[in-house]
Formats: sequence, structure tokens, C-alpha cells
Amino acid sequence: MAAQNGFCASVVASSSCITSSSSRGRKVRSSLNNNINIKAWSVTRHFPRRISFKTTKNKAVAEPSSSNDVIDDFGLLSNMAVWSNPANNENYKLQTQILNLTNETTVIRSLDWDRDRFDIEFGLEKGTTYNSYVIKGSEKTVLIDTSHEKFEQLYMDSLVSVVGNDLSSIDYVVCSHTEPDHSGLIGKVLERAPNATVVGTKVCLAFLDNLVQKEFNKLVVKGGDVLELGDGRQLKFVPAPNLHWPDTMFSYDTESEFVYTCDAFGAHYCTKDVFDEELPKLMPHFSFYYECLMKPNARSVLTALRKCEADGVKLSTVCTGHGPILQRNSEELIGDYKKWSEKALEKAKSSVVVFYTADYGFSDRLSQSIARGVVKTDCEVAMLDLSTCDAQQIVEEVGRASGIVLLAPPNAKEEIQDNVGVLIGAVKPGKQKILVCESYGGDDEPVDPLMRKFAEIGLQESQSPLKCQSSPTEGTYQLYEEAGTDLGQLLTQKEKLKEMKSSMSADVARALGRVSGGLYIVTAVQGTAKSAMVASWIAQASFEPLGFTIAVAKDRAIESLMQVGDSFVLNCLGEDGFEAPMKHFLKRFPPGADRFEGVDWKPAPCGSPILADAVSYVECKVVSRMDANDHWVIYSEAIDGGVFNKDAKTASHFRKVATYY
Ligand code: FEO
Repeated sequence: MAAQNGFCASVVASSSCITSSSSRGRKVRSSLNNNINIKAWSVTRHFPRRISFKTTKNKAVAEPSSSNDVIDDFGLLSNMAVWSNPANNENYKLQTQILNLTNETTVIRSLDWDRDRFDIEFGLEKGTTYNSYVIKGSEKTVLIDTSHEKFEQLYMDSLVSVVGNDLSSIDYVVCSHTEPDHSGLIGKVLERAPNATVVGTKVCLAFLDNLVQKEFNKLVVKGGDVLELGDGRQLKFVPAPNLHWPDTMFSYDTESEFVYTCDAFGAHYCTKDVFDEELPKLMPHFSFYYECLMKPNARSVLTALRKCEADGVKLSTVCTGHGPILQRNSEELIGDYKKWSEKALEKAKSSVVVFYTADYGFSDRLSQSIARGVVKTDCEVAMLDLSTCDAQQIVEEVGRASGIVLLAPPNAKEEIQDNVGVLIGAVKPGKQKILVCESYGGDDEPVDPLMRKFAEIGLQESQSPLKCQSSPTEGTYQLYEEAGTDLGQLLTQKEKLKEMKSSMSADVARALGRVSGGLYIVTAVQGTAKSAMVASWIAQASFEPLGFTIAVAKDRAIESLMQVGDSFVLNCLGEDGFEAPMKHFLKRFPPGADRFEGVDWKPAPCGSPILADAVSYVECKVVSRMDANDHWVIYSEAIDGGVFNKDAKTASHFRKVATYY
């Protein structure tokens, strides 16, 4: 079978060659901890057009260029491999790409062409890349980050291409952040470069100990520390905590003036363009990435930008961990981070501080879900890691917050328990709400007694403690996100109502209220996460293909299940009999509640419910989303559909004012 791009992957045993993206079925989150099964890969080099190479017997690298050159070539692409995801038995195309950025600096990009999800809310339309960099100073060679473990063979082969067969020439491995998509192969590199020193923040190296599980040379660095690479060239470090983990740091090469930022300023956008060539195409992915990962940490984004400025770190060539390197449009894109973060803080009507324990159970991932839920409601979020923060930070953040979230810390860690004690002493009874949740770490402080400690001093819970008694599923992340949204709504609703009343012209609201709509129930499913909502702001938007728009409030739970590429079902209600389903789905459901309990439905091919009460249904796929202030306008294509009652008329929805649905 011919592989993509006109070259063929070698085939092992009877495994099939390349899987086309259209053959992929339902989206299932691929676990970072899944067993790896590379079905087919090849070390045969593919030499793309538009580039000249210096080739030797074992080595083929792109023609070097100076740091000032404009580089717009694809570099060296490996042959395509196929990774079979044991979670869903789907095949995913993998490839690596090498490009010399300067005489001394090379990027190794792991192209994960088909990755379709990061957690429940982060649907990927264009896969992602994991970017790793090699800097050859005159005296020291540095590797910055590695790749996801599923790339082991491809990545190690690429690294040998760049460094040579003897990886012991690598002096330092900089770990910018320990999530396995960047650090998953550090252990493998250290097996072949046992004398290399791993460089990272204190938190990072503590995490890495658990990941690598054998002794290795370590160098803890903090802000302002430098590594000498020879002839005055330095690698300078800037801690960037919470972008998006507490361990994150940037590294700045004083010679090339490249800054390595790992997750920050990245995009889940897999193309062969090494640089940010086509801004209009990149932009939706860049902004969505910010929205999911960085907006909950808006304050930390601004702090990191200030630190870079103070330390003389230029953000003109930004070597990201995902997606393209920012160079062509770096000023504009970094400016967007600043603008979006400032706007998020300005718009904030309330503030929530989330306490979690990094590297403990699912505390960090679950805390991110809660934070995402909270920021949907125009609340500012501060994330504090109980294993690294100090008493002063706790007192300051709690002093500013209206809401507190506490992910159960490990019982046995004395210093963490001391921090919980500081937190209990810092809260303001009667003035703040608290949400306590399990972390599923194996040694969680029991959440009910923990909540009672706060209740005893007069702190009110936003809801009962959240329980997580098995490895989190899509449904668990949905529960935590929805609980975050509920907390945010609780803290902001009065302010929002006041603002709406004062800003609204009564005449305009009455006039717009005469615009009518239909009545529909939108249903969506991702794995064990299910949701539904009553919708009225729906309009056909195109003939070819048949498409329509639907406006979804940003703080709606179902919004997370309607990302670009996701499928859902639009159930049309009839004039007769719309009341019962409408009443049911208009109820305020507690976080994580099953919206379909007691409802008669069957699954559409995409898995989303078709309601027995509907007069017709349309199965749809989300094509694009437009930011419309407090709503997302979601444009979708109709894929399939059916009419159950051809004589029924669609229910209409009339209002007198436009200030409510
Ligand atoms: Fe790309 Fe936070 O790992």
C-alpha cells in the first residue's frame, strides 16, 4: 500500500501500512500511559524537495544556515510509522522531522499527525508535534526536551542523526517540564548518555526522579542561573511556573537569541512547516491552545513575560514544545498572549485559588479541569502547588480570592499538611466559598473530614466534596470541570446580572426580542462524558455543504464536547409535545449528573443521543467556532439525519426581550 507523501513505510508482519485520517472512528482520549505498539516504521530517509543536503554515510542533515537566515524548508522527514493506540485500536501516523536552525542548533520535531485529543475538553483538529532541540556549543552539547515515548524508535534514530551514534557526547539534557510528551524519552536518552546531567527546576527534577526511576546526574537551576556552553555562549534559565505546570522553565541561548518555552506559546498544530508560516491557518489552533491551557494561568503568563523582559530574554524566535517555532509573527503572537491575559484579568469578576499537589495522583490534571470550568465564568484563577508554595503565597492568594478549591493532598506528607494548616488559618469565614475534591492519589486526606474542618470555622461549601474513586474517565473530568463552572457562576452571578441590567437599552432589548427561534435539544457524548442542552439560537448557514450555526453560552457544560471535529446531535422538537423534554433539559443539573436518566433515547452513529420525543434529528460535525463574547457561535455540517413525524411542525420560541433565552 502506498504511504502518504509518495513514499512507503516498511511493513512489519501483517500489519497494514498507513491509516488515512478518514478511517479513524470515534475520538477517544489517548492515555499517556498506554502501552506502546509501533506496528511499522522505517529508518529509510525521505528527502523532501526544496532543500539541499550534506550527506554522509550515516548522517543526512539539512544545509546549515546562519541564525539570521530566513528558513522556510521542511528539513529532513523520516518515513511514516504507525502507532496503534491500545485504548481504541485506532492507528495513528507518526513521523519525525529534523531541521538545522543555525550551524549549532537543530530541531527534532515528532509529528503526531492524527492525535485527536488532550483530555476531554481539548479536541485536536490537526494533531500535534513534540519539539526537541539540540544545541552544540563549542564545548558543551545540550539537548532540550525529548519526545513522547511512542516515538522512541523514530526519535532516537533522529537524535543519532543529529548528535552521532555516540550519544555520550550530550553533556546536558534540559527538562523544561516533566509531562511525558516532552520528557517521556529522557530515560532512554540517559541509557545511552549516562554521564549527561539533567537540568531543571527543583520541582521538575523531583518529578523526573519518579519518571526515570534510576539514578542520574542532576543540576537544579533557578532564575538567573546559566550554563556555559563555550566561547561565552550561555544558556540562561527563567522559571515560568504554571505555564502550565509548576515545574516549567524557559531557557534562553544568548548566542542565537532563541528562547525555548516548552508548552508556553505552543499550538497543537501538526504541519511540515517548522516556522509560523501561515498565520491565518495557525491562529485558531494557537488561540484555542491558549484558551485551554494558558488562560487559567493568565496571571502567570504576565509574570513570565515580565521576567523575560527584566532578564533581557528576547521573544523574537520562540522555540516551542508544540507546533511551529514562532519567528515570522512572534511579536504579534506574544502580544496576543499579553493582550488575552490582561483581558482575562480585567474581565474577572471574582477570583478563585486552586490548591493542588503536583505529582500526586491525578491532582494536577483534575485541578486543571476545575480551573477550566472556573474560567468559563469570567473568574480569575490562581493555581498553587501545595508541595512547593510557601506560607506567604498561600496567605496572599487566599486573601484575594472569593472561592477556594482544595484537591485532597497526601495524608503522609508533613510539609504539605503544614501548608493545609496555613490555608485553614488564612480563609475568611462567611466571605468565601470552598470546594474540596479527591485527587485519587492513593493516600488522599479523606475529603469529608477535611471539609468539616472548614465548615467548623464557618466556611461554606459550594457543593459536597467531589469523589474520584478510580482512574479518572472523561466523565470524571466533566464532573470536575462542571463543578468549577458551578463555583464560578455562584461567585459571579450577582455581578453579571447587575452589569447586564445597567448596560442594556430596554428598547433595543425589546426590539431584538422579536427575533424568534425554534426549540431543539442538542446532545453530545465523548467516552463516558455526556451532556445536553435546550437550544433556540440556531440558524441554517449554508447549502453546500448543508450547515448551520448554533450559539452556545461559554459557561455551558456541553461546550467542551463541541470542539472543532466533534460530533453531536440536534434533536428538533415539535409543536406538540415539546414541553416535557424542554422542562427536563432546562433543569439545573448538578455537576456530572446524567442528563438522560429517565429519558427515552437511542444512539446516533456518533454515539450522541437521538431522543424519542424529537420529530426529527440531525447528526452534525463541528467545523468552526467563532468567539461572540459570552457565547461561542458554532458552525457545523449536517452529516446525517431523519424525520420521525413528517406532519409535525417544529416548535417555535417567542420572547419579549432579548435579555434571556
Ligand atoms: Fe506538552 Fe504539559 O505537556
